[in-house]
Amino acid sequence: MDKMWSGRFSSSASSLLDDFNASIMYDRKLYREDIEGSLAHASMLCKQGILNDNELKQIESGMAQVLCEIEDGSFEWKISDEDLHMAIEKRLTAIIGDAGKKLHTARSRNDQVAVDFRRYVLRKNGEIIKALKSLMEVIVDISKDNTETLLPGMTHLQHAQPINFAFHLLAYNSMFKRDIERFESSRERNSVSPLGCAALAGTPHNIDREMTAQELGFSSVSVNCLDTVSDRDFALEILFNISTMMMHISRIAEELVLWSSYEFGFVELSDEYSTGSSIMPQKKNPDVPELLRGKTGRVNGNLIALLTVMKGLPLAYNKDTQEDKEGVFDSIETAEISLEILKEALKTMTIKKDNMYRACKIGHLSATDLADYLVQHCDIPFREAHFITGKAVAKSEELGIDLSDIAFSELQKIDNRIKDNVMKFLAIEHSMNARTSQGGTATLRVMEQIIYFENYLKELGV
Ligand code: ARG
Repeated sequence: MDKMWSGRFSSSASSLLDDFNASIMYDRKLYREDIEGSLAHASMLCKQGILNDNELKQIESGMAQVLCEIEDGSFEWKISDEDLHMAIEKRLTAIIGDAGKKLHTARSRNDQVAVDFRRYVLRKNGEIIKALKSLMEVIVDISKDNTETLLPGMTHLQHAQPINFAFHLLAYNSMFKRDIERFESSRERNSVSPLGCAALAGTPHNIDREMTAQELGFSSVSVNCLDTVSDRDFALEILFNISTMMMHISRIAEELVLWSSYEFGFVELSDEYSTGSSIMPQKKNPDVPELLRGKTGRVNGNLIALLTVMKGLPLAYNKDTQEDKEGVFDSIETAEISLEILKEALKTMTIKKDNMYRACKIGHLSATDLADYLVQHCDIPFREAHFITGKAVAKSEELGIDLSDIAFSELQKIDNRIKDNVMKFLAIEHSMNARTSQGGTATLRVMEQIIYFENYLKELGV
């Protein structure tokens, strides 16, 4: 009968219940937020005359000791204490006596857990933004050296038009910027303090919710206590934001897998971030990007799991909600390590410019340029230009060459309106640099994009 809530019970909880009911094995991760929340609550109670100065001092020094014990590993985490909130309060009371018993005045574990978990998630939003920022900086750095590195741009994974490697990489920076914006807006929207909502309906004690909100770094106080104690939107949002970010990561990861294959040979991952085979001595495997791709599955699972837990829950707090934490912790850890290792893998990979260039000479990448030339310089309607270009492609195929290497005489045979200035338009360098429309791949446009991302990252206040 050592439970804090044992007053109305006449026999002890079974150990099976303890195992099933407890969250202490994982929610102890929130110990900092829990202690800070209690200290803010205690100072507010004291300012409001609910605790006296001496009681507050005892709570503060007792909590300092609890914090030390947790951090030096001597704190005893017991399943029978159910969760970290009760374990910490119990230990505090064991250290300081009666003052510890007053701490829970005007508070419930329902608002307590909502404060702790929300603050943890808000902090992690910020840390993930920082990690995304440093990944984007690496991408900008690599891009600076590759604004003229030609490679085939693809659609349907088929060679389409020549682009440069910086342009390709910066597409990911556009995705990661949107990711940062999502984490930022979630952080702002959810910066709302649950402390003082108590169990569900508020409290008759004369508390000051503004004071604790400010002390704990929230931007405002929540509006409706019934909503607040059962709101887990902040957790769902970080799960969704991570899933979307990991989906982006899985796309660049897939490209790294393809690019590091013999068939592509566009990059070589460094030995530091590659693995070998236990049987095939020659192998160098891209386990890092494969795992990045694979880990997207688990974060999506975590999102669906919590959406499912929350679906159909009646107001207000229900114990189902305790299932909110493990998936969120897992997704956050997955996001953090994934961002770090992707950054390192990109930083250390070798870019094989010659292979990229060679690939540009396969698949008649300048075909669209020939059609555009016929429109712009020979006054031929696009549909007809498309047909004539098709003939030129067929001829190149017949000769076993790329369209960019076809002889002028062959083109003239296909259509005598074609003039000899056409040859310049067939060159793949020209093709890439011709795409000067806003957001296009031309080197000059890509340099603008680099400046755009540099300015964005500079102004990002993290
Ligand atoms: N361990 C619980 C959780 O994580 C804390 C809140 C429990 N509240 C309650 N009334 N049982 O959700």
